[in-house]
Amino acid sequence: MTRVAIIGAGPSGLAQLRAFQSAGKKGAAIPELVCFEKQSDWGGLWNYTWRTGVDEFGEPVHGSMYRYLWSNGPKECLEFADYSFEEHFGRPIPSYPPRAVLHDYIMGRVEKSDVRKFVRFSTVVRWIDFDEKTQLFTVTVKDLKKDELYSETFDYVVVASGHFSTPNVPHFPGIEVFPGRVLHAHDFRDANEFVGKNLLVVGSSYSAEDIASQCYKYGAKSITFSYRSKPLNFDWPECFTVKPLLTKLTGKTAHFKDGSEAVVDAVLLCTGYLHHFPFLADNLRLRTNNRLYPAGLYKGIFWQDNPKLIYLGMQDQYFTFNMFDAQAWYARDVILGRIKLPPAAERQADIDHWRAIEEKLETAFDGIDFQTEYMRDLIPATDYPMFDLDKVAALFKEWEEDKVKSIMGYRDNSYVSIMTGNKAPPHHTKWMEALDDSFDAFQNRPEAAAE
Ligand SMILES: Cc1cc2nc3c(=O)[nH]c(=O)nc-3n(C[C@H](O)[C@H](O)[C@H](O)COP(=O)(O)OP(=O)(O)OC[C@H]3O[C@@H](n4cnc5c(N)ncnc54)[C@H](O)[C@@H]3O)c2cc1C
Ligand SMILES: NC(=O)c1ccc[n+]([C@@H]2O[C@H](COP(=O)([O-])OP(=O)(O)OC[C@H]3O[C@@H](n4cnc5c(N)ncnc54)[C@H](OP(=O)(O)O)[C@@H]3O)[C@@H](O)[C@H]2O)c1
Repeated sequence: MTRVAIIGAGPSGLAQLRAFQSAGKKGAAIPELVCFEKQSDWGGLWNYTWRTGVDEFGEPVHGSMYRYLWSNGPKECLEFADYSFEEHFGRPIPSYPPRAVLHDYIMGRVEKSDVRKFVRFSTVVRWIDFDEKTQLFTVTVKDLKKDELYSETFDYVVVASGHFSTPNVPHFPGIEVFPGRVLHAHDFRDANEFVGKNLLVVGSSYSAEDIASQCYKYGAKSITFSYRSKPLNFDWPECFTVKPLLTKLTGKTAHFKDGSEAVVDAVLLCTGYLHHFPFLADNLRLRTNNRLYPAGLYKGIFWQDNPKLIYLGMQDQYFTFNMFDAQAWYARDVILGRIKLPPAAERQADIDHWRAIEEKLETAFDGIDFQTEYMRDLIPATDYPMFDLDKVAALFKEWEEDKVKSIMGYRDNSYVSIMTGNKAPPHHTKWMEALDDSFDAFQNRPEAAAE
């Protein structure tokens, strides 16, 4: 029997399990699936942990999510096409849920699918190599609870280990003797630590934007952003300042490229993540930065030099959960022999075609359109339910504009579900005032009492 190893039980790995389960339900013979997950539960980044550094087994902590994290995009853009929010919650819910609510939604679909039996928890993948003669992968893992190493062979390997977990940590002169807290976004857990503090936030992407907003919301005194390429051009509250790149720190003083200075109490490096696959041999390992079309992956999924090695979710992400689904359904159908991969030269031409377009993208809107076309390329090849991708693209653009209108207020907007056509109700509390991000606080709508 064909054996498939899936590395990671985050949204991408779970999409792969769901894809096979869905085919099985329709009568297909599905291969033997083994999903290795180093954490003790599934959910990937959405499985919040208080830990930082290493876990109880000495393994690097995977989690990069923090308390009080709310979705930074409308949930209508990431909704599963085969499992709507309304189906899960029994009614429409607001457009920007906190982490616990999204976690509940992701879990709901897989819990109902009976796929937990395929996951070996607390099992970290240590090494994978491929034998040209047998055409099999040997996957060596460690059962962390039993403290035992073992190996098994597989016909296919699906790498779904995520790429927002291993921090990219640049050095700035003087940082080693900075008399305050220095941390990367990966280790950020609770904005309350920074109440009353002057913060330097290095980086100008989503982590910088969101962590700075969180810290402001919970009472930081001031935020100084430092960008390398592009400033975060929003209408920030008065206590925010945007500076070019940090050149050095002398004591508590941060010096910037334009010669200006700021005195700060803590440095938060929101400088992104590394695609890091310490378990993959060199000839199998994806080497890329965070971009919309990593090189070497046919359809953004299949390792060009050995398409039995499959990568999910390795792109920079506008689309998330439904993109992982589109990829997982496609990968499933290749494994099931429903889709035949073209010869290497044709695959390379396809990769080159997408890369050439990707390299010319200039604006965020270009990026949204690009990833929308990528989705349009994948979905019709499988039975994943097609949905109105143009509407999602329009919604992403509306979201970008809403952020420009109000960076602290955009999460108070409501949108129409592309899957159900129903509009989200407003949340009972404005985001800036919603300090309790728990599942129960979110569900506790004032109108619920009257029902
Ligand atoms: C701070 C933050 C906030 C985000 N917020 C949003 C948001 O609001 N909305 C949104 O749509 N997306 C958001 N994202 C994007 C996020 O990438 C996706 O939502 C999603 O979690 C990606 O799923 P994944 O399965 O590819 O990776 P992950 O969620 O990272 O899951 C990978 C899994 O692989 C496991 N693993 C890794 N290495 C091994 C190994 N060697 N052996 C065994 N198991 C292993 C990990 O333990 C983990 O469970 C956010 C990302 C970050 C960092
Ligand atoms: N739900 C939420 O609210 C939320 C919150 C946080 C993060 N996220 C998600 O997490 C993911 C990762 O976002 P991210 O912002 O961590 O990573 P990212 O999007 O890859 O951005 C990395 C940032 O680091 C900067 N950088 C890298 N090296 C640097 C250096 N040496 N000096 C200065 N700056 C440097 C980059 O600048 P350049 O532009 O110059 O390269 C860029 O601004 C995204 O998918 C995002 O949506 C979501």
